[in-house]
Amino acid sequence: MEKVKIFADRNLCIGQIDKHIYASFIEHLGRAVYEGIYEPGHPKADADGFRTDVAQLIKELNVPMVRYPGGNFVSNYNWRDGIGPKEKRPTRLDLAWFSTETNQFGTDEFMKWCKKFDIEPMMTVNMGTAGPKEAAELVEYCNHAGGTTISDMRRANGAEDPYNIEYWAIGNEMDGPWQMGHLTAEEYAKKAVETAKMMRWANGEDKNFPDAKPLKLIVSGSSNHDMPTFPEWDRTVLEYTFPYVDRLSMHRYYEWDETRKHPLEDFMGSADDMSAFINEIRATITYVKAKETGRLRRMGSRVTKKQLAHNVYISFDEWNIWTVNAPRSEPAWKKAPHILEDVYTFQDMLVFAGLMNSLLNNCDIVKTACLAQLVNVIAPIMTETGGGTLKQSSYYPFLYVANNGTGETVRSISTSDKFENMYGEARYINEAVTHDAQKREVCLFVCNYDQSAREVEAELRSFGDLKAVEYVEMTHSNLFATNNFSHPNDVVPHNKDLPAVKDNKVELKLPAMSWSYLKFRY
Ligand code: AHR
Repeated sequence: MEKVKIFADRNLCIGQIDKHIYASFIEHLGRAVYEGIYEPGHPKADADGFRTDVAQLIKELNVPMVRYPGGNFVSNYNWRDGIGPKEKRPTRLDLAWFSTETNQFGTDEFMKWCKKFDIEPMMTVNMGTAGPKEAAELVEYCNHAGGTTISDMRRANGAEDPYNIEYWAIGNEMDGPWQMGHLTAEEYAKKAVETAKMMRWANGEDKNFPDAKPLKLIVSGSSNHDMPTFPEWDRTVLEYTFPYVDRLSMHRYYEWDETRKHPLEDFMGSADDMSAFINEIRATITYVKAKETGRLRRMGSRVTKKQLAHNVYISFDEWNIWTVNAPRSEPAWKKAPHILEDVYTFQDMLVFAGLMNSLLNNCDIVKTACLAQLVNVIAPIMTETGGGTLKQSSYYPFLYVANNGTGETVRSISTSDKFENMYGEARYINEAVTHDAQKREVCLFVCNYDQSAREVEAELRSFGDLKAVEYVEMTHSNLFATNNFSHPNDVVPHNKDLPAVKDNKVELKLPAMSWSYLKFRY
């Protein structure tokens, strides 16, 4: 088999990596909140009931921001249910997940958790059964200093200073018929415009208050690219909302499906498909931006430079592997049911690592991305109620990429051959190369999706003298190997001997079906 060559050049920068592409997501779903991040009475819980063992793992993963409180849950959530004295909070049916929501954890607990563990919040607001008023009032509750009934409620609830939350998502998957309060693109777009306006005003964004820090607003894009409304949904929503918002959301989960004709190829094709999906949304944004620019130019001298410069980026705020859609084993209306507790295999990890490469390789347009989710629900971190924690296979690529994939992504070109799959063609060797000039580091993250070992020569140009300083590999004889509480270390990374770099070139032998990460310094 021919050696695959990868070329990357320091001068060919794709874009700056926004640290928010390593964000994640905690929804009121299953045991993500209750028995996940929050479990009063647990031996490792602090005085607020936050599990410090879980927080420690989240810290280790270097997650900068967490999206909350949903997901599907948010589309019938009344944020007022989750504030004030806990004993007075209502218990509600959660119609998204057929669970019982006790509201013992709400906005103030989430914000306390974020502050304590140095995590930025991304709030989602209900666009299903609520609207602009409730969203603007939540902004007032969180971001207004005080002196109004709503902001003083926050102060009475223990938070004297405003939270100044910057990232806000206007609804969740509003294109999906499964969403409570699902809307058509036009209906949602008009509602989103009014919501954005009122949220910004509640945040004090007006020419009279030039010091107000603008919100970063995320408008709801397509839930995946198999939706019958894709990409019309995105075009319509953006045409209405472009001047009012900063991000368009994308969601995509990939799954292992053994009933497919070529299940392995189809699964391993996920990363390249994710990049194709991003490119489709990129094209949609470019198209709408062109129309918007035309509209602004026709306004002549009334148009400002700021208006012309405004752009919308992608918030890939739900991405992951999600395979188990098993019938619910827990009775309906349970509190914190064991649902969506996917167990990640070695091959899930391989696909997962490729998805991270796709985010990196599109970092010029993907400015926020949330791994969905973080704890217990389709998550890299699992917990036992009253017990310990477990790192799933997907924990490891996230750990290495989020901690080392900083600075910028540089364009890489490879001679990799391709395999056919249900999405088209995908590369056997899937890589991303990052460069952090401040740290003087170059990282190579690479998946081998071939069932044979592959020789790879990576030529890393214009960086000066590179020296390999870290080489980690994940490989396994069993594609279905998993970690569990009795065997927590079956799928783990291994350190490798550092390869020599000669004339900017490094020779690697990538085992069949493997993921590798290499760090170089200059
Ligand atoms: O992350 C699980 C669910 O997947 C979210 O609630 C929803 O937005 C998506 O369909």
